[in-house]
Parts: sequence; C-alpha cells; structure tokens
Amino acid sequence: MKKVILGSVLLVATGVSASPFEKPEDAIHYRQSAFSMIATNFGDMAEMVKGRKDWDQKQFSQRAQFISQLSLMPEEAFKEPGTESGDTKAKPEIWSDWDGFAVKLNKFQTDLAQLATVSLEGDERATKRAFGVAAKNCKSCHSDYKFH
Ligand code: HEC
Repeated sequence: MKKVILGSVLLVATGVSASPFEKPEDAIHYRQSAFSMIATNFGDMAEMVKGRKDWDQKQFSQRAQFISQLSLMPEEAFKEPGTESGDTKAKPEIWSDWDGFAVKLNKFQTDLAQLATVSLEGDERATKRAFGVAAKNCKSCHSDYKFH
C-alpha cells in the first residue's frame, strides 16, 4: 500500500515539471550565484598561485573541489526557458549557438575536474599548471557569451 502511494506521489511530482525553478528569475539568480561562488574561490586560488598569499595545498585543493562541482550547476539554469532576458548578462548567442556554448561549458567542467584531481595528488607545480589551463576558460567564454 505504502509503495503505491509513494509511486503516485513521484508521478505527480515529475508530471508537474522537471525544473527546480519556479520562475525564470530564479534560474538567472541561481546561475549567477554559482558563478559568483566560483569567482570567489577562484580569486583566492589565484592569489596563492601569484604568491600574494602563502601556498596551502590543502586549502587550494578544497577550493578546486568546490569549483569543480559548482561548474556543473549553471547548465540547467541556462536551459530554463525565459532566462535569455531580464536581469542577466548572458548574450543571446548562448541560445542561438547552443552547441558552441556547450563546448565551452564542457571544456570548463573538464578542466576544473582535472584541476580538482591534480590538486588532490599534492604536486604544487602540476597544480599551478592545471590552474593556468583552467583560468583560460573564463575569458574565453565571457568574450563570446557574456555582456560586460
Ligand atoms: C561556458 C561559459 C562560461 C565560463 C567558462 C565562465 N563563465 Fe562566468 N559567466 C558566464 C555567463 C553567461 C554569465 C552571465 C550569467 C547571467 O548573468 O545570467 C557569467 C557570469 C559570471 C559572473 C557574474 C555573476 C553575477 O553575480 O552576476 C562572474 C563573477 C563570473 N561569471 C566569473 C567567472 C569565472 C571566474 C570563470 C572562470 C573560472 C567563469 N566565470 C567561467 C559564462 C561563463
């Protein structure tokens, strides 16, 4: 009996919507929040790489794990209908050239996953090199797909 009820609740839940967002503004805010958290972590990592802050492999690696996960989050918010206008700096090219955008997003996620893995292994030089590779993604995507 219990199983039957649970099954129908799940059916209703998925029947309503696959999206976690109630309105487009929520999705815009969500992806901006993810990028904002990525930027805060990334900025601190950059300070260490540039030597303006003491190198701390453990902390660096923790931040690398954070941003690797965070990089997976914006995608569904860009896919949410109605989020190409409003309080957003996303360029219309994201939707008119979704495949091109997806390539950049995918490379970003791959490079951050790589950075997360390398930083866990503990080699400072290899970690800094992987950071340099990952850092190129920000500008590369923003120049094509984000208003300044
Ligand atoms: C695949 C494309 C892509 C990559 C890679 C990317 N961004 Fe962005 N970023 C965007 C887009 C698009 C927006 C605008 C989102 C919006 O306003 O709806 C954005 C917004 C931002 C914002 C503003 C968030 C806010 O509060 O409104 C910051 C900060 C940011 N990105 C930092 C970064 C940093 C740092 C990196 C690299 C570590 C990065 N981004 C990589 C596409 C990207």
